[in-house]
Amino acid sequence: MNDKPNPTLLVCTHRRLGATGSCGAGGSEELSDALRLGIAARGLGWGVTETGCLGHCLHGPNLKAAPNGPILHDCRAEHSDALIERLLAGWPVKP
Ligand code: FES
Repeated sequence: MNDKPNPTLLVCTHRRLGATGSCGAGGSEELSDALRLGIAARGLGWGVTETGCLGHCLHGPNLKAAPNGPILHDCRAEHSDALIERLLAGWPVKP
């Protein structure tokens, strides 16, 4: 049995009504959808989970690669392929 956690991209979709600087207001739900498509197209076993605030609101939309991955800032749906490629090159997970 493999008890390693599945690689997962935690995408902040927190939205503050009437405020700037929240990931949800910056398009992170579209980012989640684009990442899911890109991950499926590559046959990767990564999950995508929408989550609450990651504490870097002014630099969002943000995602955290878990486990042991970086937090990436200013992530947009149109960057999803580049984000996946960046993680493939530098995220030390072994799915
Ligand atoms: S709202 Fe996304 S990091 Fe705070």
